[in-house]
Amino acid sequence: MARVNACSLSLLLSCCILSGAAEAAVYDVAGFGAKPDGRTDSSTAFADAWSAACRSLEPATVYVPHGEFLLSRAAFAGPCSSRVTVQIDGTLVAPSGYTSRGGSGDVWIVFDHVDGLTMSGGTLDGRGPALWACKAAGHGGCPSGATSLTVLNSRDVVIRGLRSVDSELYHVVIDGCERVAVEDVGIVAPGSSPNTDGIHVQASSGVTVTRASIQTGDDCVSVGPGTANLRVEHVSCGPGHGISIGSLGKESEEAGVENVTVAGASFVGTENGLRIKTWGRAAVEGAYVRGVVFEHAFMHDVRNPIIIDQNYCPNHICPHQSSAVKISDVRYTDIRGSSASQVAVKFDCSATNPCSGIGLRDIKLTLDGGKPAEATCQHADGKASGYVEPPSCL
Ligand SMILES: *[C@@H]1O[C@H](CO)[C@@H](O)[C@H](O)[C@H]1NC(C)=O
Repeated sequence: MARVNACSLSLLLSCCILSGAAEAAVYDVAGFGAKPDGRTDSSTAFADAWSAACRSLEPATVYVPHGEFLLSRAAFAGPCSSRVTVQIDGTLVAPSGYTSRGGSGDVWIVFDHVDGLTMSGGTLDGRGPALWACKAAGHGGCPSGATSLTVLNSRDVVIRGLRSVDSELYHVVIDGCERVAVEDVGIVAPGSSPNTDGIHVQASSGVTVTRASIQTGDDCVSVGPGTANLRVEHVSCGPGHGISIGSLGKESEEAGVENVTVAGASFVGTENGLRIKTWGRAAVEGAYVRGVVFEHAFMHDVRNPIIIDQNYCPNHICPHQSSAVKISDVRYTDIRGSSASQVAVKFDCSATNPCSGIGLRDIKLTLDGGKPAEATCQHADGKASGYVEPPSCL
């Protein structure tokens, strides 16, 4: 059946080529045997459609029609012969039970070495609740979980109009990439779901995240080591832990983070707003965070609206140490709204590597209800200008 369809598809393609039509070749997963019933594993059909598209000498599209497609595995590897677009009208569902097989860094849907990839539309349902329940029961023996969508080692990627719900672990991870645009993405998981970060970027440069709505149980957007030239624009966060650079400085060698701009973000009911977080460990050599701009942010009922925390050490593995990560040139401009705790601005920097070049300009953060909040500084140097409330401690 699949063969017949694939064959008629290739006839159609050759007719396009013969007639000189400029349309891309289209590989419909249904033609390769995928079933939109949410129960039949369509992994093989997707893999076959991917191989055909990836081999195509002209730009090709993998098309996923309406319906629910169960995918137990979905590793789409390049390099491909031409640009590939994955156009999804339907929903991809993870297996019931656990998708993760137990290793750390487990993935569900992964693209690796696919330069020029466009992924357009689609809903990913990671079916995380079974794993969250295992973790919540506290008996141990649960796998750590799988990231729903991972893009690895790829350049010039566009992810547009994606919706991701209930990932087991992170929703979207961009790792080892250059020039990735993530646009108009919606991410939803309960505020109580563990480690379900929205979008995580690491070891990548030139990533932009534009217009995203992220409700989740962990970081809204998290920025890992080796990230440069990241722009996050018009992202709304909450519930969740807010936008975080870090945690950094856990490993003994780690690439720095440079040139991150977060503009026009809004935070409602999140644990943090704009955070930079490093482990309070001396282990790391030469790590840094520099060239960060946080501007035009709105906060409502956020526990720590502006925070640099260099003393993160959950399992007490860093007694009497201070962070070796150097934080410099971080500017906060036009940040407004309400704090759920007394300290709305907190710079808790490293005693051995103090923060430098912190800038505060046009800040108005009060307690919920409008009462004055406070700012606290440790080992932080910089200057404030314009209207700054709470009064600067720099
Ligand atoms: C960071 O931005 C500066 C100023 O635009 C630029 O000179 C530098 O090359 C950027 N860093 C990286 C790692 O691209």
